[in-house]
Amino acid sequence: MSIELSSHPLVRHYITILRDSETPTEDFRRACTGITTVLMTEAAKQLDVDTVSVQTPLERTEGARITGDVVFVPILRAGLGMLDAAMAVVPGSSVGYIGLERDEATAEASCYYSKMPELGAAQIVYVIDPMLATGGSAIQSIEQIKKEGATRISMVSIIAAPEGIAALQEAHPDVSIMTGVIDRELDENKYIRPGLGDFGDRLFRT
Ligand code: PRP
Ligand code: URA
Repeated sequence: MSIELSSHPLVRHYITILRDSETPTEDFRRACTGITTVLMTEAAKQLDVDTVSVQTPLERTEGARITGDVVFVPILRAGLGMLDAAMAVVPGSSVGYIGLERDEATAEASCYYSKMPELGAAQIVYVIDPMLATGGSAIQSIEQIKKEGATRISMVSIIAAPEGIAALQEAHPDVSIMTGVIDRELDENKYIRPGLGDFGDRLFRT
């Protein structure tokens, strides 16, 4: 499985805004949209295209069209913050939803909701979740997505912990990961350090 770390200067810029505990909600949301646009654009480099013919107002020429259906699966709640920007990068995509929540005491994720479009070999699935901490939420989501038939799956996160990357690689070696940054470690509460705190709480002001 491949892991790709974005080296784009905008990614570093937006992550700094997201990390800053003084960042107001509206700037946090804008930075989330900005960084997702860059990360998804980079992740979409792996999409295949068919050659097509297109008629301009002046003449016929050769163009390209994405092959396969792109499906975004945000992991609720925090993944919702990345959805609008992801859909703007790949218009015409489908969306599946999966809801997982970590138990505050054990940090173990459990699934409370799932609704997917048709999934099979023709679909290219991007699981989107800003935080890859222990990897539990991503691993369970991808298990569910594979059960529904998907074979081509990538994970897009903003911040990943080394522990989460290792766990995801072990559980799903066929899934590639695109992330904005790999942080130092998880703390005793399974929060990413230095991290940015609880992404969902900061995004939704809870
Ligand atoms: C956060 C985050 C991920 C998960 C990552 O969600 O959005 O889904 O934790 O942690 P893991 O890799 O250890 O599973 P949380 O469970 O806090 O729910 P929320 O999005 O509803 O806030
Ligand atoms: N989920 C978050 O929102 N933040 C972390 O640091 C870990 C999991």
